[in-house]
Amino acid sequence: MPSHPARATADTAAHPSPLSGASERPVLEVDGIWKKFGDHDVLVDVSLSVRRGQTVCILGPSGSGKSTLLRCVNWLERPDHGHIYLSGQRIGFRQKSELPMSQAELAPIRARIGMVFQHFNLWPHLTVLGNLIEAPIFVQRRPREEVIAEAEALLEKIDLREKRDVYPARLSGGQKQRVAIARALAMRPSVLLFDEATSALDPELMGEVLVVMEELAKDGMTMVVVTHEMGFARDAADEIVFLDRGRVVEVSPPDKFFDVPKTERARQFLQRYGSSLRTGLRDVRASEARQ
Ligand SMILES: Nc1ncnc2c1ncn2[C@@H]1O[C@H](COP(=O)(O)OP(=O)(O)OP(=O)(O)O)[C@@H](O)[C@H]1O
Ligand SMILES: [Mg+2]
Repeated sequence: MPSHPARATADTAAHPSPLSGASERPVLEVDGIWKKFGDHDVLVDVSLSVRRGQTVCILGPSGSGKSTLLRCVNWLERPDHGHIYLSGQRIGFRQKSELPMSQAELAPIRARIGMVFQHFNLWPHLTVLGNLIEAPIFVQRRPREEVIAEAEALLEKIDLREKRDVYPARLSGGQKQRVAIARALAMRPSVLLFDEATSALDPELMGEVLVVMEELAKDGMTMVVVTHEMGFARDAADEIVFLDRGRVVEVSPPDKFFDVPKTERARQFLQRYGSSLRTGLRDVRASEARQ
């Protein structure tokens, strides 16, 4: 696979220091966020941090607050308390005055946070290439030629170069989701958030999307992935964050989380969902190798 054309991200630009790794401020910091809907505490003092190049998988039962957490990260949902920082810049509030940011102030920050949802939401009236280049040209106002060249490299990367001029209605679900990932990457995001990106797909199409996600993780993209695909989480995550009833119950490397979970809640969760470990990426790879 060619190297990631979106690697020189805005985030890299925000860190001119040659130092990297532990000494660098995380790309994403969620610091003690709380969110209530009515009387319901949906997120309770949730903190996590994601360093450059890390893949963090958020696991947890249905209703535990995973989607709400991702929506808070890009300020689609406003937390009641707590802070969120992207490459050290606080999201939602102006740096000094503590006044809320306007939509116009939020827009360039949101543009650095790529989101891939369960439903692809490609623009039906634009070709695959059109979907990839629209926002970089018209929102980021980058040069058209450069954007097209980068979009073509991304299509190569997701193995869909031949679909460049096709409309989304002519793509399979797995292909649409791969285009949605490429479209997010075309914005050169600092971090990519995935919310159950494969759960609307038939099992046979899921694998091709998970493989693209795993390649991105290996390539050093910074990612936060909400998934029920335990095989993917085990193979691709640097860290597992386990949420239950709005609280972070466990943060562990995947081998520890899956083999020796620290909490009873995590053990119960794994008994319920752990069976999908057997249909993880290793199986996709093994079946590809057999073909
Ligand atoms: N806009 C909203 N208004 C009221 N309650 C909401 C809203 N959004 C989410 N909730 C509630 O917050 C809780 C957490 O929802 P969320 O969608 O974040 O869970 P989840 O972990 O993503 O679940 P799933 O695995 O089913 O996607 C749920 O009880 C849900 O009903
Ligand atoms: Mg959800």
